[in-house]
Amino acid sequence: MNKETVLISGGAGYIGSHTAVALVEAGFDVVIIDNLSNSERGAIDGVERILGQKVAFELVDTCDKDALRGVFERHQFNTVIHFAAYKAVGESMDEPLKYYQNNLVSFMNIVEMMHDFNRPNILFSSSATVYGEADTLPVTEQTPRQPATSPYGNTKQIAEDILHDCCRAYAGLYGIALRYFNPIGAHPSALIGELPRGVPNNLLPFVTQTAAGIRECLSVFGDDYDTPDGTCLRDYIDVVDLAKAHVAAVRRMTAGKMAEKYEIFNVGTGRPVSVLELISRFEAVNDIKLPYKIVARRPGDVPAVWADTSLANEVLGWKAERSLDDTLRSAWAWEKHIRHMS
Ligand code: NAD
Ligand code: WQD
Repeated sequence: MNKETVLISGGAGYIGSHTAVALVEAGFDVVIIDNLSNSERGAIDGVERILGQKVAFELVDTCDKDALRGVFERHQFNTVIHFAAYKAVGESMDEPLKYYQNNLVSFMNIVEMMHDFNRPNILFSSSATVYGEADTLPVTEQTPRQPATSPYGNTKQIAEDILHDCCRAYAGLYGIALRYFNPIGAHPSALIGELPRGVPNNLLPFVTQTAAGIRECLSVFGDDYDTPDGTCLRDYIDVVDLAKAHVAAVRRMTAGKMAEKYEIFNVGTGRPVSVLELISRFEAVNDIKLPYKIVARRPGDVPAVWADTSLANEVLGWKAERSLDDTLRSAWAWEKHIRHMS
């Protein structure tokens, strides 16, 4: 029997590369496209080393409709996972057009090509950022979205709406939006992981870079929140677990099991973890002292958000499995790998 092929846009990136590995391990073929605007060719090498086989990779900008059309002409696949997007919240405040342009044009091009070429299934990378500061916690997929507080967040809300409208209008199109919480960690091989450019905005890369001596001190943004230890609570989801959620969603689509034409799933652990708890676990499992100081709150941060994952657990048959400790070990192993530390 021929294997199902999945097109992965942005597949050289952090989550895309882990998902490519998980899909091939689950018996799918993959075609990866990426313009390497926020990733490196080495990620594809890492994927191939883990799998012990070549994967199809093409240097394509998803905003380039003609180039994208060529991909649809050359390859037969029923499912697309669309990761390709810019993701820096702060940068999106300074350069909103860059974000609307890249994130929305690339997304609409993908949907248009799927429509033109009769390719049925699209899986979209959405984000917990759509929930903003929710009234009730944990958040379910029914929790109302709050108005976006950044152009980045707005691109996720708009793309969700576009997908919803297109699935309703086009008989042959089925969509799933996965709302990721806070993805962290790396593949256990330490051959792929997150590659932030410049000073990291996200907590874990800042932690690992501080542990590696690249940053002097980690700033903890606020310890006066109404939370058990005063620091913010988040739902940190291991990237390998997250990759497996994509496999489960692709299986649901390719098996024709969707109950609605457009479905949404939270992808998190369901467990809130504070900034200080994360730091102390990182120190404990890696036997490292992390220099940190408490500073003022970061504007725009919500005090707490974590997922109700019942829907993904029940409907996708997926559950986060890796322990926080293992994830934090993998994050440090990856940082040491890219810094050539022993
Ligand atoms: P990433 O930057 O590592 O990966 C995105 C990839 O897309 C990169 O390899 C980049 O080169 C590529 N890309 C960007 N624009 C492109 C274009 N026009 N054409 C072709 N390739 C393009 O980011 P990630 O963390 O792997 O995130 C993947 C997706 O998940 C993004 O859509 C992001 O918004 C979403 N997401 C990420 C997080 C997170 O915290 N990492 C959380 C929620 C949602
Ligand atoms: C986590 C916690 C910070 C850095 C962002 C996006 C969201 C999604 C995931 C894409 C917060 C604290 C952080 C530091 C700190 N991405 N922190 N010192 O803000 O929850 O979510 O990434 O969709 O859209 O907004 O993640 O990793 O930046 O912060 O104290 O140097 O760590 O205040 O409580 P966030 P984060």
